[in-house]
Parts: sequence; C-alpha cells; structure tokens
Amino acid sequence: MTGSKAASSLSPQEAVARLRGEIEQHNYRYYVQDDPSVSDAEYDTLMRELIALETAHPELVTAESPTQRVGAAPLAAFGSVTHAVPMLSLGNAFEAEDVLDFDKRVTDTLRSAGLLGPEDETDYFCELKLDGLAISLRYEKGLLVQAATRGDGQTGEDVTSNIRTIRSVPLKLKGAAPDVLEVRGEVLMFRADFDRLNQAQGERGEKIFVNPRNAAAGSLRQLDPRITAQRSLRFFAYSWGEVHGLPRSQHGEYEEPAPGTRQTSTLPRDTHGGMLAWLGELGLPINVKHNKHVRGAAGLLGFYEDVGKLRASLPYDIDGVVYKVDALPAQKVLGFVARAPRFALAHKFPAEEATTELLDIEVQVGRTGAITPVARLKPVFVGGVTVTNATLHNEGEIRRKDVRKGDTVIVRRAGDVIPEVVGPVLAKRPPEVAAGDNAWTYPTSCPVCGSAIERPEGEAIARCTGGLFCAAQRKQTLQHAAGRKALDIEGLGEKLVEQLVDKGRVKSLADIFGLTADELAEYDRMGAKSAENLVAAIDKARQPTLGRLLFALGIRHVGESTARDVARHFGDMDAIMNASEEQLLAVTDVGPAVAASIHRFFAEHHNREIIEALRKHGVHPVAEAAARGGVLAGKTVVLTGTMPNWTRDDATRHILAAGGKVSGSVSRKTAYVVAGEDAGSKLAKAQELGVPILDEDGLKALLGSDE
Ligand code: IVH
Repeated sequence: MTGSKAASSLSPQEAVARLRGEIEQHNYRYYVQDDPSVSDAEYDTLMRELIALETAHPELVTAESPTQRVGAAPLAAFGSVTHAVPMLSLGNAFEAEDVLDFDKRVTDTLRSAGLLGPEDETDYFCELKLDGLAISLRYEKGLLVQAATRGDGQTGEDVTSNIRTIRSVPLKLKGAAPDVLEVRGEVLMFRADFDRLNQAQGERGEKIFVNPRNAAAGSLRQLDPRITAQRSLRFFAYSWGEVHGLPRSQHGEYEEPAPGTRQTSTLPRDTHGGMLAWLGELGLPINVKHNKHVRGAAGLLGFYEDVGKLRASLPYDIDGVVYKVDALPAQKVLGFVARAPRFALAHKFPAEEATTELLDIEVQVGRTGAITPVARLKPVFVGGVTVTNATLHNEGEIRRKDVRKGDTVIVRRAGDVIPEVVGPVLAKRPPEVAAGDNAWTYPTSCPVCGSAIERPEGEAIARCTGGLFCAAQRKQTLQHAAGRKALDIEGLGEKLVEQLVDKGRVKSLADIFGLTADELAEYDRMGAKSAENLVAAIDKARQPTLGRLLFALGIRHVGESTARDVARHFGDMDAIMNASEEQLLAVTDVGPAVAASIHRFFAEHHNREIIEALRKHGVHPVAEAAARGGVLAGKTVVLTGTMPNWTRDDATRHILAAGGKVSGSVSRKTAYVVAGEDAGSKLAKAQELGVPILDEDGLKALLGSDE
C-alpha cells in the first residue's frame, strides 16, 4: 500500500506514524542495507506527504520524525561533550612482521591465561580502517540524544544537529533498545559524493576539498546543519562505549566494567562480531560486506592482502585494516596500553597521498594531440613508488585547484592509476608565489612541433593541430600501432620508436614495414638477434585482421571494439575509406562523433597515402567478413582458468576471428565454456546449466587451428 492510499482512510496520527515508518524503512534499505526499495521520486512523494500532514498538524511533530533531520538552527559554536567511556586510538602496524608480533603477544597472553589451548590459534574479527572521522552516538531509551566527535578522546565537540542529517544514522533504534547505548563508528564521504561536491563547489567558486576525509570533516564541522544536510555523509558503526540497562530479554551472560569508568555494563553478546551483529539488529549500519572472522596470523595477513586488492574498487577511502580479538573476555584479559587497546591493531596500507614541491608545469602531447599539463615534482614516495611527474589534467583543473609553480602540493597515487596533483597546501605557499601572478596558461604553440594549439569551444582539452606532422603524436601513434591489441609487433618499444622517429627513419606506420635487420641492429640496445626477431614480428604483422589495422591507425574515438565492428560491417579497407558519414552511422554502436572522426581521418590526403604505402609494403588485412561465416558466428564463448599454451588474448583473437564473441559470464545462452587449469565458479555454472565444456585442444579442434 502506498502512503497516499493509507493516508486517506486513516486519522492524522495514524497516517503520520505510517508515513514515518515507511520513510525510515526506505532510508534503512537505501543507506544501511544498500538495497533501495523505491525510486527517489516515490521517496520524495512520501516525504512531501509527511511534510504536508505535519504542517497541517504541528502538534504531531516529534524530534524523531524524518522531516526533523534538518530542523535545527545554525549554532554560534559547538558545545563540548565528555565521553562516558573514552574514545581510544589504535596501535599501528606497517609490516607483516609487526602483525606477527601482535599475534604472538596476544596468543601467548591468552594461552597463559588459560583462554586458549597450547595449540589453539586466536580468533580475530577483521574490519576495514575507514578513512573518515570517529564519532560517538548516544542513544537513550532508543532515541538519538547526542553525537560527539572524538576530540582528544576524553572530550569532543557536540555535533548532534549535524549528525542527525545523516540518513544512515537512525534517529530511533529498532526493537528492544537498552536504556543507554553509545555507538562508536566512522563518518565518511563516498568518493562519488566527494567528486560531485567538488564539482558544485568549483561551479560556485567555493572551496575545493583535497580528499573525501577533509570534505567529511569540513561538512561535519559546519555550524549550519542545513549545509551538512546537503553533503551526503555516511556512517558505519564498528564499536561501542557505554551500554547500560538492557531489556531483560536481551540479557547476556557477559559482564564487563566499561574501560576507564566506574560504569558496569552487561553486554548482550560475548564476541566483537556478535556485538556488531546486535548493533545491526538495532538498525545501525555495519560494514557487513567486508567485515570478516579469521584465525591466527595467517588469517590476518590473508585479509590484509585481499583488501589490498579490493581497495581501489571500494566506493570510499580506507587507509588500512583493523584486527580485533573477537572474544570479549579475551579482550578484557589483554587490556590497554597507554591510550590504545592491546587487543586491536591497525594495519596500514602505503599512503596514497604525500606532499612535495611543484618544481614546474610542462605540457605533454598525447597520441591524438591532446595537450596535458604535467607537474614536475621533487621526487616523493607515494602509493609504494617514487613519483616525479603527475598529471594536472587540463587548464581548467589547474585554475580550479589554483596550483602554482613553487607550491607545496598534495600528490595522489591510488592503485595503478596515474599519479595526480590533488591541490596546493595553501598554508605552505611561499609569499613570492602568493604575491606573483603565477597563474599558468597553456602555450599557444606545440612545444614539440610548433603547430598551433587549439581548444574547441566547450571542450576541456586543448590539442596540437600538427597531426602526424608532430613528432610527439607520431611516436605515440607508432607505439599504439605496435601494441598487443593492434598489430602486436613485439620488440618495437618506446625507446626504439623514439630513435626511429628522431633520426627521421620512420615518418609513418608504413615505414616500419621497410625496416631491415641490418639497419635495426645499429640502434641503441639492439643486437643482431633482437633485430632479426623484430623483423620477424613485423613480417607477421603484415596480415592483421582488418579491425586490428583500423584500430592501429589511431583514429580518435575508434577503440578496439569499434574498429572491429566497423571492419565487420564494411569488410574491406577501401569500403571504409570511401564510406560517407551516413554509411558509417549504419554500423551498430557507431554514433555521430565516431562517424565524423573516421570520415575526417580518411578525408586527409596524407592518411590515405599511409594506407597506400602499407599496401606497397605488403600489408594486407584479412577481411573480418570471413568471420561472419566462421564456425563461431553468433556464438558466445566464456574463458575460465589457465590454458597450457594459449594466453587469454590468443584464445580471444581466434574466437573473434571465427565470428564468435567472448563474454565474462556463463548463462544458458553461452555456446561453450573453455576451461583451463584452476577454472572456478564459471566451470561449475557451466556444468550446472549443461553448457558444453572444452579444453584448449577442444577449442583448437573446433577452430581448425594448428597454432
Ligand atoms: S576501532 C578501541 N575500527 O581509526 C579502538 N577504528 O586509529 C577504537 N577507524 O579513531 C577504534 N575504521 O577513527 C576502529 N573499523 C575500525 C575503524 C577505526 C577507522 C579509525 C577511528 C579511530 C582510528 C584509530
């Protein structure tokens, strides 16, 4: 039943109660369970109905109503809050060895205390170390009465009005709540929300935040809760402080004095994991997806490794993982040292951000002429490597961030992503940099070839107009053409391409096919053997599929799969070269930008000459059209596990050449699953669905390949 139908036949009290229940349930599904149950529009309708009813019946408004999340007036200053149970910090580990020491200390203590057998390993509860701000939420009789920052651990700031705006924080707990419950957890901002916020801040000419943590902190320390409400903050619970007066039905066996206070509390569960599950039952958001039980040091290190692989794909920043001894009686025995528990440890990842000096801003010319400003940096160790260059993206970004030569800047390198300059550290800006007019502007001509640089209206990226006349574009076009997904010429690497272009020996892709082993052997780092191997690789590249050749040409907007689609559609190079934009638009998935780009490319005389010269050098693409009648025409194949001889790329190439498609997931529509060694769930799924399974030999037999 929807809110509106319900509202019409109910008393105002009943209608208000029902709407609140529905809205809070949707909040819970969306923010806590990450599983939305209605559209944003439906949610907004319910909210509007509730606001209308509460406006008509102001006597029905209570602090717990979802309409009251943003009710409070701006503050003059934050009050202070003394935590009933202090908020502690965690000991840090950076190396595996620190983790082994931690586990040994813990395990030895628990064995001597008789809590573990001599051969038993310690049970741990592992969590992500969320990179936000620690917060304590105080619930009395199930209602949120206060929220405070960690502060110095004893006393924090009262941020109740701001915390109430976070929709994943329940204003009222579900079910039977204790008289007093302090929930500890982290407030953070998801990366997508952070990007959106900075975008909007930039458009309004307001402060740009350097990272999601700073944005979360800045948002929480707003005196006006209406601003906080617009900032999309999230909350995850990972611990608790005072717990007092459990309902009878919840009484557990385990009783402990809350650390650092006179309070005695009776907890409903006797493990950390159990306690978090209980907090979850009360409606609090727990990171269920990533929290995990493990055993012993090997379990801890395995968790660290698994999370490390996942880190870049998480929607929020983490700076490590946290290990906690799971059994609460064991935690009690281990106790505390200084301001941190002996039963828990933070295992940090290498920092993804560091500060260093911006020595200069130069520009780099990309394959398609794109001009990218690059920061030359004083070498700095970040994300596990030493970084000396970082991208500044484009002119707009430099202005938006106000980065200047001579600034101390924050550099970020997350996972394998290209390092970037996040922004300046304004507090460290030297006076001469602040005073000077150092605002950077693009050069008007290409630093490599001198051609004009143009920035088309409405585009962020400026480009060198030199095309293949520009040595920088030529080098990168050649490297692209030699790449594995294009002509796959092994041995034609960056250094050799540089020399070939700089010496004027190679002016276009076609020249590559005229190279001889004798001349190649004369180049730096080349010997007779490698020169011969390279010539053999070049020779092999004389018969690429049409799609690969088209991709190799490096036409803007033409990626690997577009190239393949176009090749399949037209069947030969002449037809593509002579196609009108309309004819190109007839290819599936080709839109106006791609069609115009291909058409423009072949309208250029010098590009047609390259095709002609390639032909003269014996380069003859194999028509993809053959694939239409291939053995796998219209069929989908899934690859899983490792094959003895073929790589995944080899197999993919052969399957595509036979007209098939390669997909990542098995369904009833899958024609074959090719299973190599260590094949996992995809093989099981294929067996379950009765999809035919082949090994490498089977695939080769099907394809009639003797490679
Ligand atoms: S437990 C008694 N668990 O890390 C220990 N802290 O260095 C209380 N943090 O101030 C903290 N994720 O802001 C704990 N899963 C997690 C955490 C976590 C992030 C932060 C928290 C704390 C700091 C300690």
